Amino acid sequence: MPGPGSYLLGEEEKRSILEVIESGWLYRYADPSAKSFQAKVLQFEKEFSRCVGVQHAVAVSSGTAALFVALAALGVGPGDEVIVPGYTFIASIGSIVYSRAVPVLAEIDESLTLDPADVEQKITPRTKAIMLVHMLGSAGRLREIHELARKHDLLLIEDCAQAFGATYQGRSVGAYGDAGTFSFNFYKTITSGDGGIVVTPDEAVYRRAFAVHDQGHLPLRHGVEQGARAVLGLNFKMTELAAAVLLAQLKKADYLKSQLKQKKARFKQGIQDIAGLAFRQLPDPEGEIGSLLTVLLPTEEIARKVGAELGCGVIADSGWHVYSNMEHVLGKKVVDQVGCPFTCPYYTEKGGSMEYSQGMLPKTDGILSRAVNISIGVSDAGLGSGFGVTIMSDEREIDQKIQRFRECVKKYL
Ligand SMILES: Cc1ncc(COP(=O)(O)O)c(C=O)c1O
Repeated sequence: MPGPGSYLLGEEEKRSILEVIESGWLYRYADPSAKSFQAKVLQFEKEFSRCVGVQHAVAVSSGTAALFVALAALGVGPGDEVIVPGYTFIASIGSIVYSRAVPVLAEIDESLTLDPADVEQKITPRTKAIMLVHMLGSAGRLREIHELARKHDLLLIEDCAQAFGATYQGRSVGAYGDAGTFSFNFYKTITSGDGGIVVTPDEAVYRRAFAVHDQGHLPLRHGVEQGARAVLGLNFKMTELAAAVLLAQLKKADYLKSQLKQKKARFKQGIQDIAGLAFRQLPDPEGEIGSLLTVLLPTEEIARKVGAELGCGVIADSGWHVYSNMEHVLGKKVVDQVGCPFTCPYYTEKGGSMEYSQGMLPKTDGILSRAVNISIGVSDAGLGSGFGVTIMSDEREIDQKIQRFRECVKKYL
């Protein structure tokens, strides 16, 4: 079972789902006179926004939908560039392309998140936004990236799909940007199978996000208004069933985080004396959720041997998360026949042109080819985390895995 929340699916989730089924209202809207209506989506939006400390939230059908809705709500579109790390899930890049803006791939550093120095170099007159992706359960370099965004008058979007529960200097990830997005897919901290949410401190952005996710309607409509819709939207609504599960999962989030952190601390403690082994740099070690422990070996050759023996490979080989393995990004394989957004006159007439290639981010390639992920609570072959423990592992099992890791690494270091 992949993400930590999935292990705790139980009576609370069942009860909450049953309430929705028994009410008969599976949709986020109901007849205002319907007494049985549970309004779980609305309740989840309120509880989630309280939990992350951001005023507004719009629940949607996935983390990808959340990114698309956030970009549209912020007005990112043709002619714009968005700076995004070369190490992220494909959805961060795909959502920019579907907004008809151009993704500009930037390097990561040993935090495994955006390298502020490279972000600054990649800023052009066409840059509209920076998308900071908080990878593998930890905040990225929020202070530096936030400062850059302010200095250059750029929007900041936080993709927090992999880091619900993480904080940076005491505030939740997602609370720093113009918008933050989260995913509740099966691999995430808490899950409803699929699901997502957009948070924003800005009332106008909230209203646009709501409209984009529900055919142009105003927030919290009853029935269908006519004549008051400011923009066209689509349908990315969350169902009452998904929200029922998430309300129950949300109550388990603190417990999940404390378990992950304890288990990660024990694992790290058990291997940190190994000479030659280094760890991912965490911009705020206190605030991470501890879902993965990333180790950096001295060379690619050693890392590949260790990764092969442990059965998890090196992160550089992840087909879902590393730009150089994304043939559809490298080949600009968009769905239309004319190559939008790369050939869009709004882009080219502003001097824009974009090519992607393997090896274009040498720093990222170098770090990820020496990096091995040890799972603490997220077991996902696509992430390169097929070795490790789970949220249910006891101390004995953790110690056995530590032993296995030590024996393996000793052979090659
Ligand atoms: C960094 C990142 N962004 C976005 C997403 C997309 O989320 P979803 O799968 O819910 O669409 C994911 C999912 O794995 C992710 O890891």
